[in-house]
This record gives sequence, structure tokens and C-alpha cells, in this order.
Amino acid sequence: MTNQPIGPERSEVMNFIGRDVEAIAQEYLKPIETNWQASELLPLTSDSTFVADLKSIQEEALNHSYDLMVVLVADTITEEALPTYESWLSNLVGVDQQNNNGWMKWMRSWAAEENRHGDVLNRYLYLCGRVNMREFEASTQYLIADGFNNMAGNDPYRNFVYTSFQELATNISHRRVATLAKKDGNNLLSKLCGLVAADEARHARAYQNFVTRIFELDPNEMMLAFEDMMRKKIVMPAQCMRELGGKLNTFSNFSDAATRLGVYTSMDYIDILREVIGNWQIENINGLKENGEKARDYLLALPDRLTRIAERAATPKVEHKFGWILA
Ligand SMILES: [Fe+2]
Ligand SMILES: [Fe+2]
Repeated sequence: MTNQPIGPERSEVMNFIGRDVEAIAQEYLKPIETNWQASELLPLTSDSTFVADLKSIQEEALNHSYDLMVVLVADTITEEALPTYESWLSNLVGVDQQNNNGWMKWMRSWAAEENRHGDVLNRYLYLCGRVNMREFEASTQYLIADGFNNMAGNDPYRNFVYTSFQELATNISHRRVATLAKKDGNNLLSKLCGLVAADEARHARAYQNFVTRIFELDPNEMMLAFEDMMRKKIVMPAQCMRELGGKLNTFSNFSDAATRLGVYTSMDYIDILREVIGNWQIENINGLKENGEKARDYLLALPDRLTRIAERAATPKVEHKFGWILA
């Protein structure tokens, strides 16, 4: 990491908050006993109605635009790369994998809940009949094998800014796909994406809560970490997504499809920024040093600056042909 070194106070702050983290987890995660699973939402081969259910899933999937199918596949690949995110987060300062401390338990429970997202979406893709499963699976394998760098190093402060952003971004995109699926008459897909979006919203609240607590204990360092992440820009976890056959620019082609559909745009990035600035009450944080004050000024001015840039961006028109989609 090219940032300033992380001082020992990071571990003290993490240890302090770590004492409550299991209680926090109970607030933001759902018990496994009652949590939804993919098998309750999609037909099982052992169901007597399986053939009829499959037929109706495939008929309804024909209503969706090419762009929607692309976004659904790319969102699923992003979810399926969970091993990358879990291994990254297990390495943060304050997260002790060997001793399975409170933070590690949080990471495991969070990942266990997240794992259902890839499961349910992957199974839908398999059943819907519009996806080249081998192409989709190969892209998933590439993404996990390639790994990614979220530019937050092993710093919990920077990483919790990152995860707060990401959970809010995935909430938005799954929620919008749910709305579009409903418009196309696909209530099943709408329900699946809505449930996933609701999980993401809870996770976003948890990660924002961690940042709020860090602001209470170590405001200057937390402010600098937030500023640093915004200067670097939050990179999307699927930035390095690839397709078989060495096709270029897979991520930007996917991102163009998401922009055309209005599922996730640069305006959403700015809205997320405004939301976290508001939730963390950046304007009212006291006890800052001079560099912390400067960081706060930068952050408060950033949404308007980014808005001026985003307003000049044109909607991308060219539809790329992905190997993932059959028709
Ligand atoms: Fe997820
Ligand atoms: Fe998530």
C-alpha cells in the first residue's frame, strides 16, 4: 500500500470495538435457522411441478432485454467472487483468523450470508435458459483466480469505507434489477433480487456503523482514511472481469449496459457518497488536526464536483456481444 503507515492505534481501536462486534452482528445479520435459502425460492428437481415451473421460468426470462441479462450475469459473477473479498477482509489489522476473534466471526458470518447471493442468482441463471453457463462460469473462475486490489491495503478504516460503499452499490443495483424484472412481468426474479438487495442494505448499515464508531474513537485518522479512499475512487470488485477468448473491456461493456438501463450510474456513486457523508455526520466531526480539517473540506465539496463531471458524461450506445448470453 502506498498510503501513510498504519500506527498501533488502529489495532487498539479495532480491539476496543471488537469486544462489541458479536452483539453488532446480531443486530445486522439474520439467524441461519430462519434465513432464506435458494432452495425455497427456486424449484427443485424433486418437486412434482418441476417441469411446469421450469417452463414458466424460461418463458418469463424471454421478456428481458439483452442489457438486463448482461447486468444479471455480471452481478452474479461479482457475487460469486466472494472468496476474494473474504480472504481480503480476513487480512485486516485487528481481524485475527487464528484466534477467531470477534471481527473474524463477523467476517465469517457476513460471508456466510453473502454466499447465498451467488447461490440463488447462479441457480436462476442455470434455470432461465438464456445463459451460456460455461462462459459465465469461466468468467467467475477468472475473477476469483485474478483477485483484485481495492486500494485499501490491510487498513480496517479504509476497508470499511470500501465495504460501506460496495454494500450500498450492490443494494442499488440488485434493487433496480428487481424493479425492471417486475416491469417485464417476472415476479420470481424480482423477488430474488429484492431479497438479495435487502441483505445488502443490512450489511451496508453494519459497515457504516463500524465507521461511525471509529470516528468516535479516532476521528482524524478516520477522516484521512475516508479522504484517501475517495481520492483513489472506489474501484468496483468486478473491475478485472474477463470473458473467455480474451475479449477486451468486459467490465466497461457491462458498466455501459448498467448505465443504459439506469441500474447503476455515476450519479449513483455520487448519491452513495452524499449518503455516507450524511450518515457519518462529516460536517459535525470535531477534534480534527489540520490535515483532518482539510480532508473534511475536500470530502464535503466532492459530491458537487463529481456531479459537474457526471453531468457531462453521455449515455453509452454501443451494445457489446457477450459470450454469456445465448439470445
Ligand atoms: Fe451480495
Ligand atoms: Fe454485499
